[in-house]
Amino acid sequence: MRDKIQHLIAEIREASVQNLEEVEQLRLKFLSKRGLVSALFDEFKGVPAEQKREVGLLLNDLKNKVQERIDELKAKFDQGTEGEKATLDVTRPAINAMPGTRHPLSVVRNQINEIFARIGFTVAEGPEIEDDWHNFGALNFAADHPARDMQDTFFISTSPEILLRTHTSSVQIRTMEKSKPPIRMIFPGRVFRNEAISARAHCIFHQVEGLYIDRHVSFADLKQTLMYFAKEMFGEQTEIRLRPSYFPFTEPSGEMDVSCLICGGKGCNICKYTGWVEILGCGMVDPNVLKASGIDPEEYTGFAFGMGVERIAQLKFKVNDLRLYSENDVRFLKQFDGVNF
Ligand code: DAH
Repeated sequence: MRDKIQHLIAEIREASVQNLEEVEQLRLKFLSKRGLVSALFDEFKGVPAEQKREVGLLLNDLKNKVQERIDELKAKFDQGTEGEKATLDVTRPAINAMPGTRHPLSVVRNQINEIFARIGFTVAEGPEIEDDWHNFGALNFAADHPARDMQDTFFISTSPEILLRTHTSSVQIRTMEKSKPPIRMIFPGRVFRNEAISARAHCIFHQVEGLYIDRHVSFADLKQTLMYFAKEMFGEQTEIRLRPSYFPFTEPSGEMDVSCLICGGKGCNICKYTGWVEILGCGMVDPNVLKASGIDPEEYTGFAFGMGVERIAQLKFKVNDLRLYSENDVRFLKQFDGVNF
């Protein structure tokens, strides 16, 4: 009997199981009513009296060892915390989680919003599907203006004329229609033009429009606001240059260049060897536009501007192919990991 007990102690010590079910089978084999340990207790009754003490101790020892071993194996496969501890292998390589990154255009848009927020501009958005009035008519475009042409604009219907907005200037009109000056707002959003997709043009891109309407707003206010923006966006050493231009909705109108931050003004292929890069259109809001949106041009004046988000992102991140922004190639997007705004 002693031998049998020793044998079973060795067997339980070396028992190897793969899962909870096998642990349960082991328990039944040893500890159930008809199991091995029970059978030994039955046999114990026939042990001669002078050996009872010694064999009894051995038998109890077996029983305890079996119970301990089963508990231990159970804990190993159990889902509970004990089980986790038992199976946790801290040397295993971590699971390679891939958290998303902020898209570079969102980074730039958020930064633009934040820079203007510091000087009191709030943010609003307007619809991407527009009517002719908000995209063109109220903005003083002549009825036969070439921008209204099918070649440039995606029409959804021609009568009435419903289209995908070609610029965020439409949100100026929607804002002035429903609010009274002073208005100091920016309008970020997606715009659409019927262009062939290439490295330098896309049919979908992003703009941020700005609008400031109050009494006595002057061109000097416009210039200072844009200079502040350029320096905050591109760095204190940045210079700006305003060139006269034409837009139907502003008078006078201008286009603003910033000194090329790629070459510092010396000349490179980004600035086409001029030292300057155009980033926005701007001007004093045309009195016809104020009138069309229900604001008295005798009482109020204002300025507006519209900038291309892709263009600014290209300068900041030195990306020279516009298509990369919409292809969602993870190898491209991953490079902006940690660029937060
Ligand atoms: N809407 C113009 C464009 O898409 C940009 C623009 C120019 C907006 C002058 C303005 C502005 O608000 O005053 O090219």
